[in-house]
Amino acid sequence: MSKPFRDDSLKQNIVYAVSAAAGVGLLAYIFYKHRGSCCKGRPINPSIRKDEKKVSDVLDLEELMKTVPPGEKVSLCRCWKSKKWPYCDGAHKEHNQSTGDNVGPVNIVRKKADTS
Ligand code: FES
Repeated sequence: MSKPFRDDSLKQNIVYAVSAAAGVGLLAYIFYKHRGSCCKGRPINPSIRKDEKKVSDVLDLEELMKTVPPGEKVSLCRCWKSKKWPYCDGAHKEHNQSTGDNVGPVNIVRKKADTS
């Protein structure tokens, strides 16, 4: 009487074990196939000149510095969050707070003695 019960229990355990192994295998396959996909294609540029294939600029430093008073600076955005892009508007601070990042602008300073 007890033997059929043991056989059924063994079969049931085997079914459970095979199901669990199949489940783990499926999860491992899904993880393997999608590993890194959460970040792989995420753009760093959320909104600036998205109609262009590549955002690339040439900067004439002499012309730019003519707009900057001696002793002052111009800050260029490197976080891609500025509403005044390519200039920094301080948006990197909120980005850094919300993400734990540490980005900031490139600051170009015009010397006080520079009168060109
Ligand atoms: Fe982008 Fe400041 S807003 S570096």
